[in-house]
Amino acid sequence: MAAIIPVSFVGAETGTYRVLRMNAVVGEALAPVKAVTSHAVHLPPSALPGAAWVLRGTNSAVRYVERTETEALRAVQPTLGRPQCTHAALIPIRKSDAWWNLSQDERREIFETRSQHIASCLKYLPAIARRLHHGRELGEPFDFLTWFEYSAEHAQLFEELVQLLRTTEEWKYVDWEVDIRLIKNELASS
Ligand code: HEM
Repeated sequence: MAAIIPVSFVGAETGTYRVLRMNAVVGEALAPVKAVTSHAVHLPPSALPGAAWVLRGTNSAVRYVERTETEALRAVQPTLGRPQCTHAALIPIRKSDAWWNLSQDERREIFETRSQHIASCLKYLPAIARRLHHGRELGEPFDFLTWFEYSAEHAQLFEELVQLLRTTEEWKYVDWEVDIRLIKNELASS
């Protein structure tokens, strides 16, 4: 079994990534911040007096991916932290009770058979590196903290991917989504 990797995304005045823009796609906005930093540990908000918010998650076993998809993903998915990936996106997402009340089979049917989340997204690899963190089991406000890294030249491509996913049947079950676009701080102009 893969090691458990905890993560805390901290929104504050300063940090590793500077916020280019942040907006609520559906549901409430998060308090506006100038910067976001990720820490590979679970931090209580009290540990960070300057933080406007702290979102926690952890990696987890996959729920929907089948063997052939795992192999297809492994063949093209890049690692995080590539030097050319100056841009990043943190997109916290919550799905509705209607989603969580479905059976596993029904969710897989919507996620892949009808929305083609994996098949469509595969085409955007290796340009986009990603990591999925789960927050629901931790009692966090967001079910998922999705994190992506890409180069400046692929920023438009990422936009296309996000817009595509938002038209799918799967996204009808997304009842809270905040889109935070970031750039590595040393590259951000003030
Ligand atoms: C960059 C290309 C992407 C690839 C290759 C990809 C791939 C995947 C895979 C394989 C899963 C299933 C994990 C599992 O079986 O548990 C997944 C889940 C998920 N992805 Fe993506 N994804 C991509 C982009 C995105 C984007 C842009 C978003 C958000 C805007 C997103 C949001 C999610 C969410 C919320 C889940 C969890 C779904 C659930 O468990 O209900 N993904 N993704």
